[in-house]
Amino acid sequence: MVFLKMADVILLVTCSIREKAEQTIWNRLRQLKALKTKRPRSRVPLRIGILGCMAERLKGEILNREKMVDLLAGPDAYRDLPRLLAVVESGQQAANVLLSLDETYADIMPVQTSPSATSAFVSIMRGCDNMCSYCIVPFTRGRERSRPVASILDEVRKLSEQGVKEVTLLGQNVNSFRDNSEVQFNNAVSTNLSRGFTTNYKTKQGGLRFSHLLDQVSRIDPEMRIRFTSPHPKDFPDEVLQLIQERHNICKQIHLPAQSGSNRVLDAMRRGYSREAYVALVHHIRDCIPGVSLSSDFITGFCGETEDDHLQTVSLLREVQYNTGFLFAYSMRQKTRAYHRLKDDVPEEVKLRRLEELITVFREEASKANETSVGHTQLVLVEGFSKRSSTDLCGRNDANLKVVFPDAEVEDVTNSGQKVRAQPGDYVLVKITSASSQTLKGHVLCRTTMKDSSVYCLT
Ligand code: 5AD
Ligand code: SF4
Repeated sequence: MVFLKMADVILLVTCSIREKAEQTIWNRLRQLKALKTKRPRSRVPLRIGILGCMAERLKGEILNREKMVDLLAGPDAYRDLPRLLAVVESGQQAANVLLSLDETYADIMPVQTSPSATSAFVSIMRGCDNMCSYCIVPFTRGRERSRPVASILDEVRKLSEQGVKEVTLLGQNVNSFRDNSEVQFNNAVSTNLSRGFTTNYKTKQGGLRFSHLLDQVSRIDPEMRIRFTSPHPKDFPDEVLQLIQERHNICKQIHLPAQSGSNRVLDAMRRGYSREAYVALVHHIRDCIPGVSLSSDFITGFCGETEDDHLQTVSLLREVQYNTGFLFAYSMRQKTRAYHRLKDDVPEEVKLRRLEELITVFREEASKANETSVGHTQLVLVEGFSKRSSTDLCGRNDANLKVVFPDAEVEDVTNSGQKVRAQPGDYVLVKITSASSQTLKGHVLCRTTMKDSSVYCLT
């Protein structure tokens, strides 16, 4: 609140994916309105802006409804912010909610606000063409477009020079990445489409694909961990799986959003695969990448979901035994296919009860899956002190699971066994002694590097 009181301009970055995300913004706006009205006349007036998907979805409606809002900028209009702010400065409201076919912010290098940050996100593509029937993303973020490979590699190189140890490649559909800005070459990369996956749109041809990008990114710094999110199950060709298996610095962790375990619901959601195709993909991934960690997204109470459909989702959770899960109650969004053609007929309390049931099953299965780490030695990237105790350090393993361990003096195996204390950004080996559904605990053995650790982590 202190910083808010000092600010002359407050820009809220917003999300529209569920009603709840928007509700949070309306509540925040109410607080900011109070701040704006209480502002002494001696100071410049406080300006409030809404950026991102809510600006895109509601457009002028926000300006009419919230007279306190001065500025609106959709997800593709951030370059226009200086002009919009100048208009606002002159006392008028300003808006730009135009969606673009090619904006990827490729030449804009984000500033790391925390110089000691060990991890960074790198945006590689924007938008989505999938048109799942429940999802507003294609309407707020626009058409799928990929950022040129060269510009992504440039950003990752800079992050490596700054000491960043983990990069997550980010986008709505990262593995559908296709950079057509480079010289076209004959692209013989396979897809999953032969394995029972279909798309709601015409597949694009040519260009540099995700496997190429992943390969190039992972070669920049062998001590930098590479992750990616969020992918779609339809785009996991063997080239990508092989690369994840082979490259020691690409984390063996895959997010595989299923959304439902019922074929009837998957069909209504227009996900483009059946439960059987999805499960076959899970087996294929586990065959290609032994020990891979899997996570997923699920929606409860989608239009027409019966108790039997819900039980099929429960059984999918049991069958796959994910390590991590992201679970949501369905929230009807305007403009989507479901809004126009289906009925939001599952009562709120039933959606929430099913959500609770899924959370319980997820936790049980994740606990069992994580239990298999106990007794093993894992490579952990240290993030800092644990939130709960200043005598414990906290970091993440390859599977992106939180690992907590006492802060102790350890040998640095890469520096002739010198005694050190682990710092954020260091890799350490941790012997895992206990596991829950969300966290592992253990004790630290030594400080190391990713390269040296491959010798020890086989135990
Ligand atoms: N209601 C609830 N959850 C949704 N998601 C997307 N749209 C909706 C919606 N209308 C979830 C999906 C997606 C994740 C990012 O958000 O599970 O994978
Ligand atoms: Fe939304 Fe993801 Fe489906 Fe795209 S693939 S429409 S972002 S749920």
